[in-house]
Amino acid sequence: MTTSSVLRMPPGFLWGVATAAHQNEGNNRNNQWAAWEKEPGRIHEGQKAGAATNWWDLETAAADFDRAAELGLNSLRLSVEWSRIEPEPGQFDPAALHHYAQMIGLLRARGLEPMVTLHHFTDPRWLTEIGAWENPLSGDYFARYVGRVVEALGHLVTLWCTINEPTVYAYLGFVEGTFPPGVKHLRRGLRVLRHMLLAHGRAYRTIHRLQNGARVGLAHNFRLLVPANPASAADRRAAAFLDRAANHSTYEAITSGRLIFPLGLGQRITYMIDTCDYLGLNYYSPTRVAFDPARPGAFFASQFSDPQAELSDNTPLGVAYGEVNPHGLYQALKQLASFRKPIYITENGVPDHDDDIRARFIATHLAEAWLALQEGVDLKGYYYWTLVDNFEWGAGWGLRFGLYELDPATGARTERPSAGVFGRIVRSNGVSRTVLQKVAPAAVEDYFGFGT
Ligand code: FCB
Repeated sequence: MTTSSVLRMPPGFLWGVATAAHQNEGNNRNNQWAAWEKEPGRIHEGQKAGAATNWWDLETAAADFDRAAELGLNSLRLSVEWSRIEPEPGQFDPAALHHYAQMIGLLRARGLEPMVTLHHFTDPRWLTEIGAWENPLSGDYFARYVGRVVEALGHLVTLWCTINEPTVYAYLGFVEGTFPPGVKHLRRGLRVLRHMLLAHGRAYRTIHRLQNGARVGLAHNFRLLVPANPASAADRRAAAFLDRAANHSTYEAITSGRLIFPLGLGQRITYMIDTCDYLGLNYYSPTRVAFDPARPGAFFASQFSDPQAELSDNTPLGVAYGEVNPHGLYQALKQLASFRKPIYITENGVPDHDDDIRARFIATHLAEAWLALQEGVDLKGYYYWTLVDNFEWGAGWGLRFGLYELDPATGARTERPSAGVFGRIVRSNGVSRTVLQKVAPAAVEDYFGFGT
């Protein structure tokens, strides 16, 4: 609770939006997602990324960066596309690197500090052909590519994110099979995850060897796993087990350097120790977990949203994308704090096509983040996913996360009311009582008490 009129973030707090190359640039034809979208039944209604939000066109990107700057943001997270930079193994394209330098220059010119992700779900086709991250050499290839990027862009970027959501890439691609390559094989998924984490460690060392003052982390999709029936020991065990697999194995690998079960037997990999200058937290919603003996290939667990909770938009499969649960962000931050590293919320967002949840979602999540800060959590920044509706992987254009609505047919952008609310929050460096009163009156007392 505060007596101030604003739940103020610390000085120097980074306020941003998060984006990704394949979801925004358009016309990425040389990665595994470009091949995947051509296969029938893979993407909702056979939709295509197409021109996406057309960011490969620097004028369009600049106009969106203007929008970000007008909201008062001081940072923007984007990714660079490996398949553009290294279209054939060992052959780097100077024009692509130059293009990224220009794009990032546009951010800098608007006072937007770039956070650059080096891998956000997409692999060059040549890597796919040799087994992508199942190949034990993937870490070597990744380190070589990362070295080139840092040499080319290091004068513009110091805040790096090596890999976005290794657990999601491995789980959806190799366990659930809804991402390429569409495999359903737990052991192969664990192998992929292990290779990605090891590659992160190599990339961390590569970046620091090349650049003084770099800040390097990875973005982890934190699964807040809640036993479906807290009175059931089996559900509790299933949730705890999944928590270890989905969260702790990643954090242990990049802090203590240990590969814990199910990634390994606890062996410590020297070059992995302390390979994060910050922890990147992607938080969307909690997941309920029930023990399910019929799912040995998914750690004997069923995962779903609590039907009683407030739910965001449905995915094309007709199930809710997730629960709206701001307190879960507080819980995630508290859990992460035990690793004693600075934290960036590298993604937080909601699919909400009619914008009736988003403003409240943002304000209440930030209020919970503020609460965690009051309790000593070292939170350095917040990135909303995302600026403009973009290509949402298997859901195609069906899920709308943007502060700006995109008409994919014409490319026209329309500001949603929630963008204005986010802008007000950013400009006062925190959620004010007035803003909370407007978008989430029921929550005001929780943070501001009864006074005026
Ligand atoms: C995250 C991904 C991002 C986007 C959002 C909605 O898991 O990192 O690319 O799809 O979800």
